[in-house]
Amino acid sequence: MAIERMNFEQDSREDERERLISPEMEVEDFEGEVSLRPRVLEDYIGQEKAKENLKIYLDAAKMRGEPLDHLLLYGPPGLGKTTLAGIVAHEMGVQIRVTSGPAIEKPGDLAALLTNLQEGDVLFIDEIHRLSRQVEEVLYPALEDYALDIMIGKGPSAQSIRINLPRFTLIGATTRAGQLTSPLRDRFGVMLKLELYSPQELALIVRRSAGILDVACDDGGALEIAKCSRGTPRVANRLLKRVRDFAMVMGKDLVDDEAALYALKKMEIDTSGLDNLDRTLLRAVIEMYGGGPVGLETLAAALGEEAVTLEDVCEPYLMQMGFLTRTPRGRCVTHLAYRHLGLNPPQQTADGQQSFEDLLGKQEG
Ligand code: ADE
Repeated sequence: MAIERMNFEQDSREDERERLISPEMEVEDFEGEVSLRPRVLEDYIGQEKAKENLKIYLDAAKMRGEPLDHLLLYGPPGLGKTTLAGIVAHEMGVQIRVTSGPAIEKPGDLAALLTNLQEGDVLFIDEIHRLSRQVEEVLYPALEDYALDIMIGKGPSAQSIRINLPRFTLIGATTRAGQLTSPLRDRFGVMLKLELYSPQELALIVRRSAGILDVACDDGGALEIAKCSRGTPRVANRLLKRVRDFAMVMGKDLVDDEAALYALKKMEIDTSGLDNLDRTLLRAVIEMYGGGPVGLETLAAALGEEAVTLEDVCEPYLMQMGFLTRTPRGRCVTHLAYRHLGLNPPQQTADGQQSFEDLLGKQEG
């Protein structure tokens, strides 16, 4: 399987690159991930619901001798959307071309990609919500009729000619399905939502990756890494490599719970997997906005961060951990978050939660 990487764009999230537990892909990850990525569905750990349905669609497409219908994968970054696209191509026995929404600048860029596909190929467009409207227009007939409509000339004498394309499968990936235009969303026959992984699933991924990287890692070490990986295999694999560094320098030839806990502490990742940015976010909501509600843009400005970073990277995990809630009036910190930070929660938070103590008092009374 040839993976062609096109111009993965530099975006403005410079600070993200500094974060060890950012789920955004970095060059080191991409190179590393290629070897750690499972190539067949059977080796892909977790995402049971998505995997189960995908297997049926793949088997049915193979039985019909047709390409798989266009597929949209959505969910937070780092959960294995690119990996799944590679697996689809491998399972279907076709090539995959990998690109991203912002890398396709002009309709001509997309036309060049489409006309170079072979029958059955997979075209993977990461961050598909960032395609420009003009490029999207070219995609519609390609998805619906496997055709490219090209305008020749300008003004009243302009003519449209149609070029037939090979049948192909578009796999779009996005962290924000809500930002897709409905004409584009409607053209996907299959939509699969990827969820954050459980620590147990991540521990299995860490053990598998350790095996591939030839790192001795026991169950305790894998689980400690998994618990701090914010539900994300990309983070888990990155932490495994860093914990291996600490273990080596500690003179250990095994990544165990002691090495993992020591390394995570040194990296300022706490026992719930939160890093400095997560904790700063929670503290800002508490100290500057009385626990919330506070609007995302206001919070981002207060922290000097991009709103998308907070929304895509910090929030899914903080919400999964029960530290943050989203209300129509803004973000609120929960009692759990106060306690996690060693603070006393107020009697009632802005989103109506009452403290345990208060509730207990009422029940007893
Ligand atoms: N490496 C990264 N993601 C994975 C997954 N879901 N299963 C197995 N290995 C992985």
